[in-house]
Amino acid sequence: MCGIIGYTGKDRAISLLVEGLKRLEYRGYDSAGVAILVGNAIRVVRKKGKIRDLEKYLNGKDLDGTVGLGHTRWATHGKPADENAHPHSNNSVAIVHNGIIENYRELRKELEARGYRFSSETDTEVMLHLVDEGLKQGKGFLEAVRRGLKKIRGTYAFGILSVVQGNALIGARRGSPLIVGLSPHGNFIASDIPALLPYTRQVIPLEEGDIAILLPDKVTIYDEAGNEAPRPVLHIPWDPVAAEKGEYKHFMQKEIFEQPRGVTDTLRGRIRPEEFSVYLEEIPEALLRETKMVHFIACGSSYHAALVGRYWLDQIVGLPATAEVASEFRIRQGKLPSGTLTVAISQSGETTDTLAAAEWVKSLNGTILSITNVLGNSLTRLSDGVLYTRAGPEIGVAATKTFSTQLSALFLLALKLAEFHSPFVLQQEKNLYDSLLQIPRLMEEVLSPPSLGSIRQIARRYSRKQNALYLGRGLSFPIALEGALKLKEISYIHAEGYAAGEMKHGPIALIDEDMLVVFVAPLDSLFPKVAGNIQEIAARNGEILLISSADNDYMEGVKTSFLVPQTHPFLYPFLSILPLQLLAYYIAVERGYDVDQPRNLAKTVTVE
Ligand code: M6R
Repeated sequence: MCGIIGYTGKDRAISLLVEGLKRLEYRGYDSAGVAILVGNAIRVVRKKGKIRDLEKYLNGKDLDGTVGLGHTRWATHGKPADENAHPHSNNSVAIVHNGIIENYRELRKELEARGYRFSSETDTEVMLHLVDEGLKQGKGFLEAVRRGLKKIRGTYAFGILSVVQGNALIGARRGSPLIVGLSPHGNFIASDIPALLPYTRQVIPLEEGDIAILLPDKVTIYDEAGNEAPRPVLHIPWDPVAAEKGEYKHFMQKEIFEQPRGVTDTLRGRIRPEEFSVYLEEIPEALLRETKMVHFIACGSSYHAALVGRYWLDQIVGLPATAEVASEFRIRQGKLPSGTLTVAISQSGETTDTLAAAEWVKSLNGTILSITNVLGNSLTRLSDGVLYTRAGPEIGVAATKTFSTQLSALFLLALKLAEFHSPFVLQQEKNLYDSLLQIPRLMEEVLSPPSLGSIRQIARRYSRKQNALYLGRGLSFPIALEGALKLKEISYIHAEGYAAGEMKHGPIALIDEDMLVVFVAPLDSLFPKVAGNIQEIAARNGEILLISSADNDYMEGVKTSFLVPQTHPFLYPFLSILPLQLLAYYIAVERGYDVDQPRNLAKTVTVE
């Protein structure tokens, strides 16, 4: 999705903006641009393509100003092209936008009738002219922006500058995230925290309908009603180095290796094995005590984590649990029985579908607990309790460390709910706490050089496959889904995750010697059943890759396998996912693809 950065301060804006844009690249984009106020003129440079292409055009241009805007565009209205790239500008205003203006066609017609000429196909350009019109009517900068915002319908995060108030920047949000960053050298707006990490960790997330006016040494925020609204300043705990690639070739690779640390951090201080208990101070206890059923909502990898959570709820807590993709729940407008705790899982906390589903739950007076990674995001503001994962910033578009830290948070939640609803299970499973604390060490083992060598070899062997089927049962079914998602996202190989027991109901027709079939089958109570499914594939010459913790020497037809260490049967998802992430990563590298910015994908999906 599009990325915004803006700055007003004492320093040269252009270098801060370009650096900020590079840190937003991971969101996915097709063009980029900057606008700088130089004297009393707005200078704009924008290009289709990558930021490195834009940089070539910046060379030699007079962009010596201390106020500016930068943008990466992910096309919605209008093809990727120089003229559709942001910022949009005339002589008096420059504007960048994330989101979609739904009534732009009507507004465009009206503006054209009043003499405005459009130079792009974008919805954004209407706001440029609306602000310009307000200024021409003699309104001040802030009032002209307010007037424009009143006329548009849809979602937006805007960054706007104008020659009429040269040192000011305006940021406004509705439905798309926008944060303000505060620093002694000046103030920033940005769509995302990583863009600001080199400059400041003091941020204010804007709330729905907020407008912020930034001066080099002052920020004033107004709420939807136009009242001044002081918002809390958050200190972001992320180390700026955490958003750097360091010695790694790709962010995804780095983030795969950061998982043992992320899991340790997410568990830290929340588990006391000697007391057989979990401490989740951030969640009101009554909320968990009164829960009669749990409904998970999430998208993508977060949904797969939710499916794992659902199994844990069944097995450990015994409470009824359902999991649904947020994009369906929001349109189905499903009802929730009283006593339902809705657990919304989203690493970014800004995914439009998950937010809309959470809003629907709120409209039913439901209770929401969110599991999320980014401090102060929109989802947290809708939630009655928040359980933060501590993965640090995830830059790779393919979720890896946020997935395993979501699993950690979900396991803690299951243990905590079990304290209230099924203490007898915990009495029988006292070794669970210690086993959980051993998980980061076992993850390290899977990520050690000998294992990496063998996964790499396996990846080479399969890198030219066209199709893959990922199969698992029980807790391994969501892991199969997640493994398949990783492969399709970054290596563009068609991959399907399926419940192994369902294979015989249809997908088995696809099996031949070209089909790669990845079985996720650790040594748990379901292993003998999956072993039967493996034989069914072997009998039809499918090419099998087995991810297991069981020695498979005796398993006919399995030529390739990867073993993870043994652990408590509930905890295999933490280990089985690692070879699948690595397999997808190495195959994408073998095929020469851009692992961190896969085509068509965006890190945070803020459109419907
Ligand atoms: O920020 P969220 O967890 O809400 O994001 C949900 C999905 O968009 C995300 O998991 C997506 O599927 C990733 N690309 C998966 O690798």
